[in-house]
Amino acid sequence: MVVKVLAINGSSRRDSLNQKLLDIAAQGARDAGAEVTQARLADFDLPIYDGDFEVERGLPNGARKLQALVEAHQALLIATPEYNGGYTALLKNAVDWISRPRGDGSSGVALLAGKAAALVSASPGQLGGLRSQTGMRAVLDKLGMLVIPQSFALGMAHEAFATDGQLKDSNATRLVSGVGEGLYRLALRLA
Ligand SMILES: Cc1cc2nc3c(=O)[nH]c(=O)nc-3n(C[C@H](O)[C@H](O)[C@H](O)COP(=O)(O)O)c2cc1C
Repeated sequence: MVVKVLAINGSSRRDSLNQKLLDIAAQGARDAGAEVTQARLADFDLPIYDGDFEVERGLPNGARKLQALVEAHQALLIATPEYNGGYTALLKNAVDWISRPRGDGSSGVALLAGKAAALVSASPGQLGGLRSQTGMRAVLDKLGMLVIPQSFALGMAHEAFATDGQLKDSNATRLVSGVGEGLYRLALRLA
């Protein structure tokens, strides 16, 4: 059985450190046997969540597309950058829209509940975005997602990557890849 993993980054920055880390975790999932799709949140039509917008116009196209993507994948691999001690608005806004009822009245939360998830983060600071991970883990937990215990927070991330995008520290590469592999293994068990 093919396990499909959806990889999402909470930063839309061109040279995102979180994207580089996510790519390595995604490769770990691929090496274990997963099929990985990358969804770049900035490419989706996703206004900041607004209840009046939803009542008057329904879900924006980007939200519907993201819901369909989540439905089509068994697991979410998420890079969660840290802004002021928490997760980014870009990422939380996407989760909020995904959780809303779908056009056919079915539950958006049910799309996420029971699905495997894993978190990584990167930051130029010492903690590597750990606080963002803690916050995002609580959000995903509340939605019923099964977040694997393995995760990786890359501190001093601005100095951690070689020019080819790989991590200079091979032990860190092993651990980050292990997050992708662990996600694949749980999703396979759940399938
Ligand atoms: C508004 C803002 C707040 C930030 N707050 C934190 C923070 O609390 N902790 C931290 O480690 N880094 C913080 N940073 C630095 C980000 O971790 C850094 O910009 C990182 O490179 C963002 O991820 P990206 O490279 O994937 O875009 C902050 C950056 C911004 C723009």
